[in-house]
Amino acid sequence: VADDGYRLWLSYRSIEDAAVAKKYKAALQTLVIETESPTLTIAQKELEQAVAGLLGTKLITGKNMGPGTLLLGTPKSSPLIAALHLDATLGTLGDEGFLITNTSVKGTPCIVIAANTDVGILYGTFHFIRLLQTQQSLQSLSVASTPKIKRRILNHWDNLDRTVERGYAGFSLWDWHKLPDYIDPRYADYARANASIGINGTVLTNVNANAQILTEPYLKKVAALANLFRPYGIKVYLTARFSAPVEIGGLPTADPLDADVRNWWKKKIDEIYTYIPDFGGFCIKANSEGQPGPQNYNRTHADGANLFADMLAPHNGIVMWRAFVYSNEVTDDRAKQAYTEFKPLDGKFKGNALVQVKNGPIDFQPREPFHPLFGAMPNTPLMVEFQLTQEYLGFATHLVYMAPLFKECLDADTYTKGKGSLVSKVVDGSLDHHSLTAIAGVANIGNDRNWCGHPFAQANWYAYGRLAWDHELSSEALADEWIRMTFSNQPAVIAPTKAMMLASREITVQYMTPLGLHHIMGYNHHYGPGPWIKDKPRADWTSVYYHQADSLGVGFDRTASGSNALSQYAKEVQELYGPLAHCPNKYLLWFHHLPWKYKMPSGESLWDALCHAYYNGADSTAWMQRQWNSVEHKVDEEQFQHVKSLLTIQHQEAEWWRNACVLYFQSFSKMPVPAGLEKPE
Ligand code: GCU
Repeated sequence: VADDGYRLWLSYRSIEDAAVAKKYKAALQTLVIETESPTLTIAQKELEQAVAGLLGTKLITGKNMGPGTLLLGTPKSSPLIAALHLDATLGTLGDEGFLITNTSVKGTPCIVIAANTDVGILYGTFHFIRLLQTQQSLQSLSVASTPKIKRRILNHWDNLDRTVERGYAGFSLWDWHKLPDYIDPRYADYARANASIGINGTVLTNVNANAQILTEPYLKKVAALANLFRPYGIKVYLTARFSAPVEIGGLPTADPLDADVRNWWKKKIDEIYTYIPDFGGFCIKANSEGQPGPQNYNRTHADGANLFADMLAPHNGIVMWRAFVYSNEVTDDRAKQAYTEFKPLDGKFKGNALVQVKNGPIDFQPREPFHPLFGAMPNTPLMVEFQLTQEYLGFATHLVYMAPLFKECLDADTYTKGKGSLVSKVVDGSLDHHSLTAIAGVANIGNDRNWCGHPFAQANWYAYGRLAWDHELSSEALADEWIRMTFSNQPAVIAPTKAMMLASREITVQYMTPLGLHHIMGYNHHYGPGPWIKDKPRADWTSVYYHQADSLGVGFDRTASGSNALSQYAKEVQELYGPLAHCPNKYLLWFHHLPWKYKMPSGESLWDALCHAYYNGADSTAWMQRQWNSVEHKVDEEQFQHVKSLLTIQHQEAEWWRNACVLYFQSFSKMPVPAGLEKPE
């Protein structure tokens, strides 16, 4: 059967290595689950399906131990598990962690997946299946795993008419028209995929919110989805439009301190919980890009967030208040606005409110330094927001494996509490001792047959979930797992595919925005080059604003002689990026405006370095094509051809980027492309 990508990393292709398959078959004959629950049934079905696909055998499920037993359970629900006295380990694993180990029960050797809750068992089950898919040994198993971040969330920018803001994989999965009565089987596959990587929350609606979602007919539809997702450990969240009390409540104001407004939200939120008793809460975009918010009433972001926090608290709900504030009124460097508005509010947010901060201070660029708010608000739980959908990274056409981008941010040192104050430690709560922790990824999922448009975009969904669970996993390890699960365990597939994936983000940065350049994409749609964009209603809707190229040089001066956005970082970071002698090439033009002839550490001029980056980037896409061509006949033919076609487009468009940008910047530098490079056309 040709694999069109629908089955994602859960395709359970038959294991070709006979020796491995033989061992697995011996170890996996009997499945023992002593109690029933919707979640355990999901785990059981998944194991049966995995074993049938991978090994072509049938697991016998029951309550009795037998040869080759896999035993699943919690100490509470399974006397066999309770008798193993695993409490010391389970005690450290919380309500989502799990352990996998070899042991023996009444003299019969078996593999045990144990947890404190059924959802923990489901996570353990998927981890175990991953061991099979990646062909790991089942001897001496000793896995104890618990997530480092509590709320691991996807943000769908899905509108109620099923268009998806910045979505490149078809229309929204949520068929509002047919809900709640028709439950598309795809919802369960979505939930399975998420549970398999530990995602436990989904914001169903766009941050540019529509108040209609909060009306009764829609809440019933949302409840149907929540009911389906519940046994997979997934909570549903919504976006709330700040002006909803006016739009659907008939009130004259949405002032967060107004008694009627507060009462309206209290009733609305109480109503939501009658439909969805475990509703997760809200993600809110306010006073950004024209969206309504508390500042319309001279109130602060904290006033706004706390209104929701107060009403959600009795139900254990949370509010995720976005720090992506890009106001129509502020004229200062856009990179500074979030810090300027939020830093003074540190400590003013209620306990069940988080501030949701994009990874970088502008907007999901191919590369940005980490956002200066990380570490700057120690009294407020901060969550990071990544964008899986490739708004600025070639949509679903360019192959860009984003784990290195996520890791670059998570591993960045904010120095706010001295060396080692990593963004990941801010987000996982360990730096400032927060127990409410969360992470968000803007979903790249739509109703395309293969979910994400580009077959390799699935890897970004996958890597995001896995990193949300454990941000210490490496990009390399995650690529390795994903390739094995999706395509093949053959070294001749893994090596070139992994090399291509790991290099792809850096290659993309090189052909789009090298040396710290940013936001020079096509106007509004953000696809393809557009460094020439100017004369828009606002300066920062143009590209010329971001690159500042003129006859003297190029780059955005964010040091003290410019916007001084650099001052929003800790002293140590200022020392790293401020002095030219220290500033890494990758952030050079993000922080500095430099002459075309500026001498780079390599000895070449800035102009030559810029040209070399664009040419290297474009040339490397041909290298990516060669890597992929080498796996022909070793992976599914349909997937192979699909990726091959997309890589051809990527290569052509990388040259388009290169030529457009080099020719455009050359009109300022007036310098020739360095010797040895063909002339751009
Ligand atoms: C970007 C994107 C918008 C989106 C916004 C946000 O600016 O282009 O479509 O609404 O981010 O994150 O709120």
